[in-house]
Amino acid sequence: MAKVPENLEWSLPVPSVQELAIQRPDTVPSRYIRDDLDHINTVDVDHHHSSIPVPLIDMTKLVNPDSQPQELQNLHSACKDWGIFQIINHGISDESLRNMRKRTQEFFELPLEEKKRWAQKPGSLEGYGQAFVISYEQKLDWNDMLFLKTLPIQARKMNFWPEQPQHFRETLESYSEDMRRVAVSLTRFMAMALKLEAEEFFKPFQEGRYETRMTCYPPCPEPERVIGMVPHSDNSGITLLLECGDMPGLQVLKDGKWVFVEPIDGAIVANTGQIIEIISNGIYKAPEHRAVVNRWKERLSIVTFCYPSSSLNVGPAKDLIKSGSPPLYKTLTHEEYMHRFYNQKFDIPFNESLKL
Ligand code: OGA
Ligand code: NI
Repeated sequence: MAKVPENLEWSLPVPSVQELAIQRPDTVPSRYIRDDLDHINTVDVDHHHSSIPVPLIDMTKLVNPDSQPQELQNLHSACKDWGIFQIINHGISDESLRNMRKRTQEFFELPLEEKKRWAQKPGSLEGYGQAFVISYEQKLDWNDMLFLKTLPIQARKMNFWPEQPQHFRETLESYSEDMRRVAVSLTRFMAMALKLEAEEFFKPFQEGRYETRMTCYPPCPEPERVIGMVPHSDNSGITLLLECGDMPGLQVLKDGKWVFVEPIDGAIVANTGQIIEIISNGIYKAPEHRAVVNRWKERLSIVTFCYPSSSLNVGPAKDLIKSGSPPLYKTLTHEEYMHRFYNQKFDIPFNESLKL
């Protein structure tokens, strides 16, 4: 029997879902069938669905002193009640977003052999492949991925960065700088909303770790029986997602129901991750989310995981504890936090295991 990963820090090789979908099968191989999951609601032929909209945050309103108090309140409720929202007027140029989408699309359009030059290797999550496949029996998600660490610059492993399509590397480099800018301003306003010392909160994101995961969800003949990405919460500080088209696929669990996040042209979707849940001492929650697929059209997403600097301990902010509430979570070094994440046993949700 081939060696299997000892933890989630690497993933077994799996077939390409894009290649499978190209053959236009009538049914789906059993390894992808997820009749064990909650009802999977997807979109109809016109992309319609019946979800209520997730909150919208306007960055110019956060900056403008006249509108700031109200928009900070909106941000606070969005983080508390949803954990996911869309940001408009974020200051990142259309050109940057357009280029990143284009390069991602061109990458997934390359022949399989070319994509495989950048395939994951045993012992690393980076590269072209899948995440968190640790056994040969495990059910699989209906997607292909390319995962790369982007910042700090020293963390880049260039042997996984595609040389094709042209300009892919420099586009991702400048895109990750742009995402860092969004993460820093967003965490600055979150600090204000939480009444925390802003610098302590956003500075670690200035010096933070950034990772990008580009995911391709091909069309599927039985979309109600597979999952694009299995339900999870992110272990990041915050996550910034860019849609490449207008096909909905991302869903968030809100009051027990799976709600679609409708793509809005030019917007960036943000969700809080487990590190912000811990720093905010549970005031902000890392929402459970998943991706569904559809029968008609491929969907691509570009997700940036933003982590505070690894020199910062992961624990409840002192200012929140000082004001009288007891800490709900343990304080761990960044390294210990990541180690526990990658070695979790899935018997209880990860953040529950960090509670005091
Ligand atoms: C993720 C994620 C959702 C999507 O990569 O963590 O939640 O729609 N992706 O691609
Ligand atoms: Ni996620």
